[in-house]
Amino acid sequence: MKTKNLKLHVWRQNGPTDTGRFEDHVAENVSEHMSFLEMLDELNERLIADGKDPVAFDHDCREGICGMCSMVINGHAHGPHERTTTCQIHMRHLFDEGWDEVWVEPWRASAFPIQKDLVVERQALDEIIHAGGYISIRTGSARDANEAPIPKPIADRAFDAATCIGCGACVAACPNASASLFTAAKIAHLGLLPQGQAERMSRAKRMVAKMDELGFGGCTNHGECEKACPKGISIDFIAQMNRDLLKAVITDRDVPSGHGDGE
Ligand code: SF4
Ligand code: FES
Repeated sequence: MKTKNLKLHVWRQNGPTDTGRFEDHVAENVSEHMSFLEMLDELNERLIADGKDPVAFDHDCREGICGMCSMVINGHAHGPHERTTTCQIHMRHLFDEGWDEVWVEPWRASAFPIQKDLVVERQALDEIIHAGGYISIRTGSARDANEAPIPKPIADRAFDAATCIGCGACVAACPNASASLFTAAKIAHLGLLPQGQAERMSRAKRMVAKMDELGFGGCTNHGECEKACPKGISIDFIAQMNRDLLKAVITDRDVPSGHGDGE
């Protein structure tokens, strides 16, 4: 089993208005089989034993589902391994890169204020969903699975978009801090299915307007979001969102007031 001593530089920040700084630590005898979060857990146990403040970081499922573990590791959102969340990163992935020194930072985007150390507030993504990421028409009771035939390629595409876990790595990786990949995925997984058609255009309009209002940047096709996305969501969805948005603007299609309130 391979072990290594690692120099760690961990971002410490007391709150959204604190300027923050890197704090240096040494992690000794780190096993290649340890997960990255276990390595941070050990660091925190040491800090607590020394009467110091542990490093705050977000995590929940630790299996790539919840999207909470938002960290930039040596400049890579979710670390160096493709299609992997931070919690799925193992130390061997860092050893494979030949890294003896590791810089750990939170997502950096003005729409994601830093709460403490590596924890950021990602409520802005929820607000984009609130603006239209739902179906408000009455769809009736649950139907048989094959009652509404949907061509397999379309079902697959909707499913691909629905795998977005709302982690925000796309925002952190984008030089413009754009939330276009997240928003496009949420628009697409509803807009591709029959139940989502009625509100398709207005959904795109409302969600993109909210994204702009919340201070996310625009998409200039760098493609960094797709590379950082742990679910491999394609930037083709951004093109689809832009097409929907253009149609919505040209045809001026909006939802009548009262729609969605059961009126
Ligand atoms: S599109 Fe990918 S990177 Fe962006 S929030 Fe969804 S899962 Fe995370
Ligand atoms: S802790 Fe849930 S995706 Fe990483």
